[in-house]
Amino acid sequence: MSITINRRGFVCGIAAAAASAAAAADKNKSAAGTKSRSGEPPAKKVKPGKLIASAPVLQNAAETSMGVAFAVTADASGWVDVSQSPDMSGAVRVFSGGTGLMDVNDKVALIRIRGLKPATRYWYRIGADRIVFKGGYDMANLGPEVDEKVHSFKTLGASVQDGSFCVINDTHDRKPVLDQVLTKIEELKPSVVIWNGDASNTSETIETAMGIFIHTHERHPEYAADTPYMFVNGNHDFRGRFNRRLCDLMMFREPTERAPKYAELGRNFVQRLGDIALIGLDTGEDKLDSNKKFAGIFRMAEYRKLQTRWLAEAIEMPAVKEAKFKVAFCHIPLFDPRPDQNPGDIAPDDESPLYKNNWASWQRTCANLWGPLLAKAGVQLVVCAHQHCFRYNAPEPGRPWAHLVGGGCNGVNANRNLFPTVIEGKVIDGKLSITVHDVLYKRVVFQHVFA
Ligand SMILES: [Fe+2]
Ligand SMILES: [Fe+2]
Repeated sequence: MSITINRRGFVCGIAAAAASAAAAADKNKSAAGTKSRSGEPPAKKVKPGKLIASAPVLQNAAETSMGVAFAVTADASGWVDVSQSPDMSGAVRVFSGGTGLMDVNDKVALIRIRGLKPATRYWYRIGADRIVFKGGYDMANLGPEVDEKVHSFKTLGASVQDGSFCVINDTHDRKPVLDQVLTKIEELKPSVVIWNGDASNTSETIETAMGIFIHTHERHPEYAADTPYMFVNGNHDFRGRFNRRLCDLMMFREPTERAPKYAELGRNFVQRLGDIALIGLDTGEDKLDSNKKFAGIFRMAEYRKLQTRWLAEAIEMPAVKEAKFKVAFCHIPLFDPRPDQNPGDIAPDDESPLYKNNWASWQRTCANLWGPLLAKAGVQLVVCAHQHCFRYNAPEPGRPWAHLVGGGCNGVNANRNLFPTVIEGKVIDGKLSITVHDVLYKRVVFQHVFA
């Protein structure tokens, strides 16, 4: 089979291999009547319904890679055409599954684009081949369906100019709250959004999770089509049978971002957004592994220790050391000045008359493990979530980093800081400006500048 590959040199390595069966995307102007990759014409039978069922959702923004997910209605092998031109000229096709077996999935297509240039804008569109899969020797490719809408994204990197980030958290799939935060995101147009956990409640099925991450809000069907999201687990994002495999929908990060010994740390990241080093950590569940409710099938203690070893090495990377500003993100707070707040290390079942809750309101274990490393790295700010109540604590002796907690989804009281927030960060005139937007009462509730 002879295939022409029209590359412009921006996709290399694994991505180039993944694209090895690619036809130039500008030859795919119309899905109708287009030949499949095997060269066979589409089957002329009953016209099936639409195969692509959502706009793309950009995941795991990075310097040289980007993840794309979208919903499909039947068995399909998804792909993305990527170009450095808005007219999609010279596009390269990247397939789900990478090399070897293309993924065939009747719910979602997951594509990881690799070998991208840092701080560079790309344009892309999605498509999928409809697959009939009846068995190991009984498969058919009925041809592609193309979503002709062209979207774009910009990769991260130290050379990004005028970059900004936003943080949302604790949306818990409450649609009115998602409407509020996504409306604000669309207004602010950040380079990247950190979704700082508790997107879920409990997700037993992929359909539930797709309602959260893909069909997130009917008024915002393209919420992540041009703005990449970096997902950080909250405690609720571990709950339910499907959430134990949430990486089958919200992909783990590109494996080459970390050393093999940290392979399982798919949610941790260090990425540069211009002068800002973004550091992602996962505080895990808000109950101890020993808690009876968890049936002995959680190992968060080891997970946190492994992340500690990762963090100790990560802060020595040039991406962190050379960054003027360093901001860490994790779901459960690493600090709380209130003595009645459960610190998450009360064995065996998180129960104590000393504390209001029988779950971790904050994470003393993570604070002890990671706090000194964050201090050593010169992290200026730690952005957390989980408490559904906006709070800012300035640095103090023994804790040189400021601590910011985003609001949550059950806000009804402006005076008690109970409202959902969008936290905005950007460098202006060489200083990191942090603004907290209350998206319920539509006001700015906090601003701080880190020089
Ligand atoms: Fe929450
Ligand atoms: Fe939480």
